Amino acid sequence: MQTLRFGIIGLGNIAPVHAAAIAGTPDAELVAVATRDPERGRAFAAQHNVTWHADYAELLQRSDVDVVTICTPHDLHLPMTIAAAQAGKHVLCEKPMARTPAECDTMIEACEQAGVTLGVIFQSRFEALSRRLKQLIDDDALGRLLWVSANTIWYRTDAYYRSGPWRGTWAHEGGGVLINQAAHALDLLLWMSGMPDRITARTRTLNHAIEVEDGALAILEYADNRLGLIQATTAAYPGYPERLEIVGTNGSAIYHKGQARLEWHLIDPREDHVLEAEVSSGAAAPMDITAAGHTAQYQDFAAAIRAGHSPLVDGREGRRSIAVIDAIYRSAREGQTVDL
Ligand SMILES: NC(=O)c1ccc[n+]([C@@H]2O[C@H](COP(=O)([O-])OP(=O)(O)OC[C@H]3O[C@@H](n4cnc5c(N)ncnc54)[C@H](O)[C@@H]3O)[C@@H](O)[C@H]2O)c1
Repeated sequence: MQTLRFGIIGLGNIAPVHAAAIAGTPDAELVAVATRDPERGRAFAAQHNVTWHADYAELLQRSDVDVVTICTPHDLHLPMTIAAAQAGKHVLCEKPMARTPAECDTMIEACEQAGVTLGVIFQSRFEALSRRLKQLIDDDALGRLLWVSANTIWYRTDAYYRSGPWRGTWAHEGGGVLINQAAHALDLLLWMSGMPDRITARTRTLNHAIEVEDGALAILEYADNRLGLIQATTAAYPGYPERLEIVGTNGSAIYHKGQARLEWHLIDPREDHVLEAEVSSGAAAPMDITAAGHTAQYQDFAAAIRAGHSPLVDGREGRRSIAVIDAIYRSAREGQTVDL
């Protein structure tokens, strides 16, 4: 099989996880990296025996790069995706896909026009317990869904928000806890439960010196009478395990995602189940995660490129959480319920 050759743009917190995921993907190889920080660029390149570029445009010109991984601040996801697509590279972009639905649309269009594959990192979808819960719902084991919720009650320090000039800003991060930390649980909820029709939300900056929200509550209403709830904050010391709750007519599932434990209880046939896996949670600190989810997503992405079909999380899937977050911000701003 022909080796897929990767280039990573942006060498901050998450980049080492991507390097590990590429190393863990059969017939995949990291060949180049780009960041404007020379010290970090040289050290990372030396550690992985690859070439460093200060200007990512140089990386895009390389004929030995097939896929570009984008690990930069959120406002750069759009221009870097467009440039990579125009250079004929497949694109695997870190979450969130972009700051707004309109940016997501432009990215999808650019990749379609260039005939390259676009994927968005949501590694939680690849974790065994997430897949098991999705299967329970798809198999109708829980019955008709009545109530769904996603809780991200996390903690980030002021130092975290000061650790990069893009953090906590509308211009660069595109939002706060919703678009950054809660994006994972929200993506899972939308994957499991589909898109709501109406949203009523409140957001606040509770206890950090930032312009974006560090607390958000949103009520979701679905066409079939189902209700949903999103709770998200980075102000809750010490940071609690992320949790999803799915209630149906035939029972309920609680996914203690941050503790890697899934329990479900069925009425007919009467059954109780608990499954556990290895814990990988960013509740207290962003980098308390393993590379397992990313590695599984790289393998799915590589298989999709080779087979010429969509990866599990393509541009349209990546856009879902951004559309909901955009509606939450609109509802909070206007003080009204908004339609999606
Ligand atoms: N999937 C996850 O669990 C997860 C975890 C952490 C971060 N992320 C996402 O990864 C992305 C990066 O986050 P991070 O925490 O690593 O950020 P970071 O601030 O630590 O790193 C950003 C990197 O981008 C580089 N950069 C900025 N402008 C650039 C430019 N013009 N050209 C080249 N490089 C440039 C910076 O030098 C830095 O190396 C974000 O989208 C974030 O939401 C995802």
